[in-house]
Amino acid sequence: MKILVTGGTGYIGSHTVVELQQNGYEVIIIDNLSNSYLSVVDNIEKITGIKPVFEQIDLRDETKTNEFFKKNQNIAGIIHFAALKSVGESVEKPLDYYQNNILSLINILKGQIEFKINNFVFSSSCTVYGQPDELPVTESAPIKKALSPYGHTKQISEEIIKNTSSNANINGILLRYFNPIGAHESVHIGELPIGTPNNLVPFITQTAIGKREMLKIFGSDYNTPDGTAIRDYIHVTDLAKAHVVAIGRLINKKNREKTEVFNLGTGNGFSVLDVIKSFEKISGLNLNYKFVDRRSGDIERVWADTTFANKELGWIAEKNLDKMMLSAWKWEQALEQVKRNK
Ligand code: NAD
Ligand code: UFG
Repeated sequence: MKILVTGGTGYIGSHTVVELQQNGYEVIIIDNLSNSYLSVVDNIEKITGIKPVFEQIDLRDETKTNEFFKKNQNIAGIIHFAALKSVGESVEKPLDYYQNNILSLINILKGQIEFKINNFVFSSSCTVYGQPDELPVTESAPIKKALSPYGHTKQISEEIIKNTSSNANINGILLRYFNPIGAHESVHIGELPIGTPNNLVPFITQTAIGKREMLKIFGSDYNTPDGTAIRDYIHVTDLAKAHVVAIGRLINKKNREKTEVFNLGTGNGFSVLDVIKSFEKISGLNLNYKFVDRRSGDIERVWADTTFANKELGWIAEKNLDKMMLSAWKWEQALEQVKRNK
């Protein structure tokens, strides 16, 4: 059964391609390589023994996207990861974010309708909740005003999918990811941030390996037990596995609504200092860090109520924080080894 994975050479996409192939699906990747490398396709093959079909297409291009669908019939479902994802950059370049994330989605959905592809899984984010009033946050929590253009594109995208699926023969699953971290256990694939990482965990591992001088902890005066902000970190392989369940659920028509929404997290909140402590424990290193002002747009705390995903999808995130940090550290060390061998 053929699955189209857009953004499949990216961080979460590549891990999902591996899990799909290992569960017997045939995968076609579309990516414009704006934030990933072609070598990821070979690295996927190193893990699974199967090279996924790769098409370099910019999904903003309606004609090329349509030609792709004409050429590739019998696609059973689409998992749509392709998007720009940097919160800070979206504040500086909002139009790039609206254009890329919304146009790509529209072109994919038009292809779905024209070529009668019924199943659609979308990468959403817990950012759609803003700062929730109640924690853990459930899927029915109100969607608040987005704190960034990036977050707004996810809110708009969710609406576009709901509106489209209610009129067309499309069933959709919106997966709201919490904070994905770590890498595949083979260390053939992982997160490859281009330039200075914005996210906490790559910044920690790059500081520890000597690529960065010091981690800045954004804010020490939050209303949390240690004053630093709290997130729900989830291992990227656990996250990837949920996509296999989601696409299978749609293909097997187990979905209860035309559009279903699931939180994907562990259900546990950890502060920035908890994450650093875990890293120091698994690596045996002392991390160089200092406290600075809060980062604008950051929320204080969020973690998921995963009851619905656990019950309905029969899925549960398995890796704990130490395992996630160990996997992120092994990936950073593997990248360093590759650099030394060059
Ligand atoms: P990523 O940047 O590693 O992967 C996205 C991929 O999409 C990249 O390979 C990029 O080249 C490709 N892409 C972007 N625009 C494209 C276009 N117009 N046409 C074709 N390809 C295009 O990001 P990721 O971390 O793997 O995120 C995947 C999805 O999950 C995104 O939609 C992101 O918004 C969402 N998400 C990510 C996080 C996170 O923390 N990583 C959290 C919540 C949601
Ligand atoms: N942080 C630091 N120093 C850093 C980087 C981050 O202290 O150098 C802190 C942040 O202030 C925050 C926590 O670490 O409190 C996590 O920050 P990340 O940037 O790793 O993650 P965010 O929760 O800000 O956002 C991430 C993705 C978004 C996504 C969101 C929810 O970057 O795209 O998770 O899924 F929408």
